[in-house]
Amino acid sequence: METLRLSAEQQDIEIAGEIIRRGGLVAFPTETVYGLGADALNAEAVRSVYAAKGRPSDNPMIVHIAKMSDLNALIRGDEEADKLSANCRKVMEAFWPGPLTVVFPKSSAVPDATTGGLDTVAVRMPSNETARRLIEAAGTPIAAPSANLSGKPSPTTARDVLEDMDGRIDAIIMGEACDVGIESTVLDMTGENPVILRPGIITKEWISEILGLETEYDGTLTMKPEGQAELADPSRGVADGDFKPKSPGMKYKHYAPNAKVRIIEACESATEIGTDEFQSRAGELADEARAKGLRPVILDYGNDGRRAAHYLFADLREMDRQGYDLILIRALEEEGLGFSVMNRMLKSAGYDVVR
Ligand code: TXA
Ligand code: MG
Repeated sequence: METLRLSAEQQDIEIAGEIIRRGGLVAFPTETVYGLGADALNAEAVRSVYAAKGRPSDNPMIVHIAKMSDLNALIRGDEEADKLSANCRKVMEAFWPGPLTVVFPKSSAVPDATTGGLDTVAVRMPSNETARRLIEAAGTPIAAPSANLSGKPSPTTARDVLEDMDGRIDAIIMGEACDVGIESTVLDMTGENPVILRPGIITKEWISEILGLETEYDGTLTMKPEGQAELADPSRGVADGDFKPKSPGMKYKHYAPNAKVRIIEACESATEIGTDEFQSRAGELADEARAKGLRPVILDYGNDGRRAAHYLFADLREMDRQGYDLILIRALEEEGLGFSVMNRMLKSAGYDVVR
């Protein structure tokens, strides 16, 4: 199929909304990464998203809404008043619209195809203007995973999306580069305590402060790299029907460019990595690689989580374009936003860390 290039002008957004309404697929910018949108209430449309991405169909999608009243039809509860706990209200007031996804018990209006058969639904209200106008124009909530082929780094520009999706989807809104650069924080509030299923720019510390309540990371996020590597092993994950993580996105190979990625932690504690130590260790490894005929490149964001989040996926894709085959990248301190960035970096490296 031919993928229609659309602008973010209102008349184009109306066309995109129409495509979604009749069951088609439209890639669009959000503040985090580009999404691949389909009508969240149309099971057939949602199934075609899995096909376009080459994604396993038990991986649930985030449903995007434009206003608070869109939420009611998606979540389960007897009466309006008690559908939302006080804590849910607090986080939504603090962070919506924005890069926070909240997991709720789902209503029967949401098809199993959208939630991968779970009885919960993940919902987020993006802050990106184009995304919000698209949802309004579609007149339906939009299910949207990141608009990349399964396993690749998430796309943060329209160009990234086209590299993976051109000819596989109906249309793309050619918007701006994404501001945040990594996907939204996924927060499960269905249990007694809030649990972060996927870390993002809205950090555990920030959520805890807003709630006045300790927020935790899901156990799989804090597992040792060896355990993570085992979970991330696609041959194991996909085949292993017994492994049911809370956020099924955790069990597949993720964010991997064509080049091999290695993370360098010059000291036992990432805090102590000095720029000089990193550069000299990376330099040695680069020399070794060159001696083997490889083309290595070194990426260093210092310990700046915001900058690393913004550039990580974009750079992984750019290094592929430039034909490098080994990316040596500096570890960040695993705290606050650094934890979220390291979560992506470790996956892209298949948990290969040089200490
Ligand atoms: O920033 C984002 O969230 C982007 C943009 C496009 O909004 N979307 C995104 O979608 O990252 P995706 O499909 O790549 O990641 C969705 C994540 C996965 O880790 C998935 O397992 C989790 O959200 N998720 C979705 N529904 C869930 C549910 N009901 N319970 C637990 N986790 C869920
Ligand atoms: Mg994704």
